[in-house]
Amino acid sequence: MTDVLAYARDDAGTPPSLVPDYGSTLLRAPRQPLLRVPQTLTETTGPGPGGAWERLMGASLADLTTQHGGAPIGQRIVVSGRVLDEDGRPVPDTVMEIWQANAAGRYVHVRDQWDAPLDPNFTGAGRVVTDAEGRYRFVTVRPGAYPWGNHRNAWRPAHIHLSLLGPAFATRLVTQLYFPDDPLIEIDPIANAVPMPYRQRLVSRFDMATTEPNRALGYLFDVVLKGRDQTPFEDDHHD
Ligand SMILES: [Fe+2]
Repeated sequence: MTDVLAYARDDAGTPPSLVPDYGSTLLRAPRQPLLRVPQTLTETTGPGPGGAWERLMGASLADLTTQHGGAPIGQRIVVSGRVLDEDGRPVPDTVMEIWQANAAGRYVHVRDQWDAPLDPNFTGAGRVVTDAEGRYRFVTVRPGAYPWGNHRNAWRPAHIHLSLLGPAFATRLVTQLYFPDDPLIEIDPIANAVPMPYRQRLVSRFDMATTEPNRALGYLFDVVLKGRDQTPFEDDHHD
């Protein structure tokens, strides 16, 4: 029988629901006090290891630059890192979903109609699974900045959207990866909704060691998911 261990409810790095400078939160932020959902087996478990992700979602899509007949326009990059929990333990066998705009800042989406070209060789969607040490790696092109209607002359910094479920539904994290040399980050209401020092964790790090000669620049990005309420011990056996 597997113990049901609750996950931490402390969300110190989570942005508040209501951020007035980020206009759409005015419409969607809850106006009633939040209810706590009890953490049952449903919330504290997930699909788990042993190829469960592949069976549920299909094979991984780790290279976003080879999904069509030719190479997409843009700067090819490798993004890699580790997924860890708050106790520093690797999170193995967990899926990371990836979506992003193309190098011109345009999404393949009916709602995205701004005046930037689509790229027939780039969809902007991928999926990878962490290995036994919690490592992941994917290849893509660096996305472009794009305008959004939040306020006059509003531009999103270049970013890659990431969704991680982690070991259980209670640990799901949806976040964005930014790039270290981007002046738009400091004037972006979405990035600035995340309190410091957690905001710094959203910025990837240029890494010469993972840059591939004559092929791609490398960026490192580690992700930290919620830990347990109580730290479980590896050798904590129950008979
Ligand atoms: Fe976006």
